[in-house]
Amino acid sequence: MKSRSFLLLLIISLFVFMLSGCGADNQTSVTPTPEPSTPPTPTPTPEPSPETSDSGSNKPKGPVYEPIGSSLAEAYADYFLIGTIYTPNTLVDPERSLVIEQFNCITPENIMKPESMQPSEGYFAFTLPDAMLKFAEENNIKVIGHTLVWHQQSGRFLGQTSDREKAIEQLRNHITNVVGNYKGRIMAWDVVNEAVKDGAPLPADGDWTKCLRETQWLRSIGPDYIEMAFRFAHEADPDAKLYYNDYNMNDEVKAKVVHAMVKDLRAKGVPIHGIGMQGHYDTNVSIESVEKSIKMFSELGVEVSITELDISVNDASVSKSLTEEQEVRQAIVYAKLFKLFKQYKDNIVRVTFWGTIDSKSWRRDKFPCLFRNDYTPKEAYYAILDPEKYLAEHGVAEE
Ligand code: G3I
Repeated sequence: MKSRSFLLLLIISLFVFMLSGCGADNQTSVTPTPEPSTPPTPTPTPEPSPETSDSGSNKPKGPVYEPIGSSLAEAYADYFLIGTIYTPNTLVDPERSLVIEQFNCITPENIMKPESMQPSEGYFAFTLPDAMLKFAEENNIKVIGHTLVWHQQSGRFLGQTSDREKAIEQLRNHITNVVGNYKGRIMAWDVVNEAVKDGAPLPADGDWTKCLRETQWLRSIGPDYIEMAFRFAHEADPDAKLYYNDYNMNDEVKAKVVHAMVKDLRAKGVPIHGIGMQGHYDTNVSIESVEKSIKMFSELGVEVSITELDISVNDASVSKSLTEEQEVRQAIVYAKLFKLFKQYKDNIVRVTFWGTIDSKSWRRDKFPCLFRNDYTPKEAYYAILDPEKYLAEHGVAEE
């Protein structure tokens, strides 16, 4: 009887103790943290878990990247880097997870173009590229700078003067500030982009300067703007690889002009280390023409990179998704190209895709990417993972 009343007393005292605030810890007064004198850096809100984001239901809210378990970057680790484009959206899932699993190199699609880097004269905007560099460095991803000198997306003042000295100063200032700011952190720069005219054959005297595109820089400075750009970039970051980058480089006419230009510049001691073949192809591309150019450029002793690869499906209809036949046809072209690139692994440093999912591509109506809009891999993804096997399975191994 005695022990029962003792037990009752114990339970009542415990109950009262819990009601009064349960434990010494809570009674300790907490010293208030002083307000920071500068606003704290906002911590990114974690992405809601796809499983629970839809107010408790199990239905995912938007597309989710399901890890594939294989990685293009790993598949090509013994050959070359595998890149894709970066936009600020890359920081957010599902694209973030896709990029981290599949690629080891990124090129900013737009945020480093001249008008973005220097939106008004003398004002440089580093915030977006800084975030890109942070993401890349945290995930062991290399970064390509794109681009310093171009006729597009270059604002209203760069090179827009008839005063040659002023234009040179603008060129120097832009390159020195942008390249200098990221010294040691950007592996390679597309220094000059698309400076050669389409369909202009190299003249008999070999003077490539006659084949240059009419741009603000050609008008304001003259053909030597090209070598100046490379020299300024090299001064700002002597370790970065410096590229000339262009499209239609599998066109023999253009390839010969670029070959002559790079050969001449290198003979003059201009620090130009690589040629970027953009690679905006379609499903009718001649693999032989691509090989000819890779070979021709490699013979100059420079690096070659495929910098903006995408393969449009010629007969795709924007209102429909690709048929199985179209996906396979596109995959076969990708496989043939990668089989070729592997053969030139000693010269090719990087192959970068110009886009991840079709709907975000600049050529979205032609479905040129490796991933569908729901972030699942297309046939082309698997074709690239093992091109020889894919071609054998589709009866095109011996081509
Ligand atoms: O930023 C504005 C936005 O404020 C506006 O609301 C919107 C309305 O259309 O336009 C946005 O700018 C667009 C920009 O992409 C960012 O999305 C431009 O209009 C559009 O012209 C621009 O296109 C880019 C194009 O270069 C410009 O020439 C593409 O995204 C980009 O993929 C493409 O990339 C080029 C390479 O740099 C060089 N080689 C060829 C390649 C394909 O054209």
